[in-house]
Amino acid sequence: MLKAALALALAALPRSALAQADQEQRTLRYMPFGDSITDYGCWRPWLAEKLKADGHTLDFVGGRRAEAECDGLDYDRDHEGHPGFQAVDIVKDNQLAGWLADNPADIITMHLGTVDIVRSSTKADVILQAYDALVDAMREHNPAMRIIVSQIIPFPANDGLVQALNAAIPAWAESRNTTESPLWLVDQYTGFSGTADLYDGLHPSESGDVKISEAFYPAMLQAIESFEAEK
Ligand SMILES: *[C@@H]1O[C@H](CO)[C@@H](O)[C@H](O)[C@H]1NC(C)=O
Repeated sequence: MLKAALALALAALPRSALAQADQEQRTLRYMPFGDSITDYGCWRPWLAEKLKADGHTLDFVGGRRAEAECDGLDYDRDHEGHPGFQAVDIVKDNQLAGWLADNPADIITMHLGTVDIVRSSTKADVILQAYDALVDAMREHNPAMRIIVSQIIPFPANDGLVQALNAAIPAWAESRNTTESPLWLVDQYTGFSGTADLYDGLHPSESGDVKISEAFYPAMLQAIESFEAEK
């Protein structure tokens, strides 16, 4: 009886109101995408905590589970950070499309290219071509994807290539920005120490993870608020 009454009441609502109620209830799905810098450490849970404090609880998505223990937090361990993966190879094997098909996302962060430089001394223009294909795959999956790309953290052993990539990213990022699928740029390099904020010359130490979470935070807020603005 109650059910029937509820169905009647819902049927009386205009369609747009229903769609709106739907959107308000749905938890936004966020895919942290990258290499080991995305897999290891605690920047994801610390970012989640900061957003939670603002009243935003996201559903972290991805085919991998983080193992790090982070202040005893019972955090959402899903992510798409693949240790040792190069942007160029992910594109060659068309892997991102499959990962997104398995774990759909509304928002994605990308910190990628470090391994291309570490393993293959890949130049900026080649990495940006890979970024292009990755952004295409993101938008093919979800035309309204909110995309957050990073100027990458230091890799002191090949700082020249890191700096060249980071210098080329802003113009590229602007060129790939659209109204339907906004793309934000986050500078993860400036203010990040190539010594104190890394524990092995490559991976973030605890202080490094704090900096990564703090740098992603304002862009994540903008991405989340861009959905609220649509309602
Ligand atoms: C893309 O556009 C949004 C506004 O929709 C803006 O906030 C953002 O800074 C732009 N991104 C870049 C890389 O210029």
